[in-house]
Amino acid sequence: MTSKMSRKLLAWVCCLALVLTSWPLAAIAAEDDEDSGTVIYRMQEDPGISGADEGAAFSGTDYLTNSGGGTRSIVTYNGGRSIYLADRTADFYGVDIKLSALNLSPGTEYTFTVHGHVDEEAVLPGGSLIVFSNPNPFGPYGQYQWLVNQPLTKDGFSLEYKAVFSAATIAQIGAQSYFRIQTSSQASTVPIYIDNITVTARPADEEPADPEWDLTLDSLHEVYKDFFLFGNIASPHQVDDEEFVAMFTHHYSVVTAENHMKPEALSPSKGVYNFANADKLVDWALENGIKVHGHALIWHSQTSPWLNRNAEGQPLTREEAQANLFEYIDNVAGHFQGKLISWDVVNEAFADGVSFNGNWKDSLRKNSPWYLAYANGADEEAGESGADYIYDAFVRARQADPDATLYYNDYNEELPSKRDAIAAMVEDLNARWAEDSRNTEPDRLLIEGIGMQSHHFTDSLSLENVENAIKRYIETGAVITVSELDIPYGSYSNFESRTAPLNQQEQVIQAQKYAQLFQIYRKYADSIERVTIWGIADPYSWRSAGYPLLFDRQHAAKEAYYAVIDPDGYLAENPPPPPPVLPEASAMRGSPVIDAEKDEIWAIAPEINVNKRPDGQTADAASAVVRTLWDEDYLYVYAEITDTELNNDSPNPWEQDSIEVFMSETVHRGAEYRVGDGQYRVNQSSFFCLAARFDLDPNLTDRNIFLNLFVNIFTLSSNSNASTGNKSQLTVSSPGMLEMYKF
Ligand code: XIL
Repeated sequence: MTSKMSRKLLAWVCCLALVLTSWPLAAIAAEDDEDSGTVIYRMQEDPGISGADEGAAFSGTDYLTNSGGGTRSIVTYNGGRSIYLADRTADFYGVDIKLSALNLSPGTEYTFTVHGHVDEEAVLPGGSLIVFSNPNPFGPYGQYQWLVNQPLTKDGFSLEYKAVFSAATIAQIGAQSYFRIQTSSQASTVPIYIDNITVTARPADEEPADPEWDLTLDSLHEVYKDFFLFGNIASPHQVDDEEFVAMFTHHYSVVTAENHMKPEALSPSKGVYNFANADKLVDWALENGIKVHGHALIWHSQTSPWLNRNAEGQPLTREEAQANLFEYIDNVAGHFQGKLISWDVVNEAFADGVSFNGNWKDSLRKNSPWYLAYANGADEEAGESGADYIYDAFVRARQADPDATLYYNDYNEELPSKRDAIAAMVEDLNARWAEDSRNTEPDRLLIEGIGMQSHHFTDSLSLENVENAIKRYIETGAVITVSELDIPYGSYSNFESRTAPLNQQEQVIQAQKYAQLFQIYRKYADSIERVTIWGIADPYSWRSAGYPLLFDRQHAAKEAYYAVIDPDGYLAENPPPPPPVLPEASAMRGSPVIDAEKDEIWAIAPEINVNKRPDGQTADAASAVVRTLWDEDYLYVYAEITDTELNNDSPNPWEQDSIEVFMSETVHRGAEYRVGDGQYRVNQSSFFCLAARFDLDPNLTDRNIFLNLFVNIFTLSSNSNASTGNKSQLTVSSPGMLEMYKF
């Protein structure tokens, strides 16, 4: 098909989509009436909307309010009024429905329906979702969470969420209790139109059971008392709730403030310190025999601009930032002095995706406002740099609260590159402290602990990486804390798009990961001070879309709870499938010339069989012989492919006859690409005799290579068997894999 034709077809499909989605709203509302009961709110009839002038700025109505930055205006659409949201700077900025305005009553099922669309020309990045979320804490809705979502497409959207509120929940609904219309981060800059919002009410079939904690379950911290402290997070408002307190004291012996001891919460502007909320939590904990870990003093996120930026948002000078850092740590660590067992002194200072080159400073997050301010005026010749804020912070924290154990805390901390950079930083700064005249305790390290946040995913968790990281961190002499453990189901890129709770099989898969991690934690318990889970139950998690925790929406124990209580027993009863046996092959050493000629040297390379065929595929479809060679700089791949007919018709490159090479220099086999991973596709014009070379990163320390070859060949229908149909994908060999030895 010519591209012109496909454009025409696309335009026609778009028109059709537009016609379908712009079906008169009145018809939708009438249907809603029948299906879901009485309409108690309809945006089109909200006087703040229907009475607004075309183009007027939208600043909220009695029922709706704006959240976050960007512009909002009222536009005419399809004979009605829409709210147009543009220039949003964050995905979680949108329009909120004020729950307090709806006069909710118990025993009623409310259906919230949101219709909207995007411009025909809108550019929608992959992963764009429209989201109905709950931004504020109340009742079982807890804190910020997604309620329902769907892909954001040119076809418009129609989100529906049903809720039955108990009397207890309604009692907690206040002026700030909202349901929000927002997007996923991928679509935070895509302008969206909200065309209608309706809320209908009808008698509920069943009263919702208020969630209940079962305190006859074995206590997590009791089970682990001979291994490490066992903790969870809390927010000050929760400690007024007796059921929460009974649960927390039953299961946990240590608490971390989820948000209320971060700089933005404690000191919004220079000279202003708000300790009331944090004190409430700390005092409650101490009165209840619960230890408190401080989180976090110096961080690039959830921080206060005054600390490191000027009024224009530009970095302060090094001297100004240092003075503020000292002042902040003196005030904050000083305020809690003697009450906390430990502090995360610096949080998340390292960047992602940087391979470690031996100098940890090169792996830092260089756009951190702390780094930028400390770099502003640094005397580079004297060895000063943006990195110096880290040492300053630890020294000052030691002086402000000498009894607290001082931690460095980070995520992705198990990945080899970040792991090596963190460990090198800890060793370097501790060596520096050993020589520092301010050090009055020669036997004590400055950075005494490494916090492994452990924000994992079921799809990408590598137990090998976790164990290797623990071993490397132990070598530094520091103790370890698993500081923010959670395991959403799925991967980083897909966990937010699920719409249903985990089924039994998914729960078991997640539980197996918990069990396997706790087997490792038990093994290294001598070096592990504390394990803290980041959330008490799924709905309150910052990653609630992935159902990442030990307890569910009703507060019932999930499989994951039983896995944590008894990892060995759980895995004996629920054995994970054995890891797949990967075919291995050797790559011979040699350097061919890459010039489309088959050099003689290829003869030394053994043939690698990549011709594994999926069931039902005929052997005559196509076949491949692959050879590899390596030298200090490159991995070379030579593929000879035989196919009866070649086809490049599909507009999608991955559906054209091609060979794909996925290579990971860190032997990473996870769901998403990381540093050291590469994916290469060569299509049929060059693939009959493919010789290609792939750069090897000289900085990587783990010199194993994991190579995954896919040969995707699409044959014409004459070559397809009946069951695969016309021009369907015939993957003749996938995956062929080879591993190389260390070199
Ligand atoms: C998260 C909280 O759970 C959320 O409520 C908040 O909106 C963002 O921060 N690393 C950390 C934690 O060190 O402080 C973060 O907590 C999660 C990632």
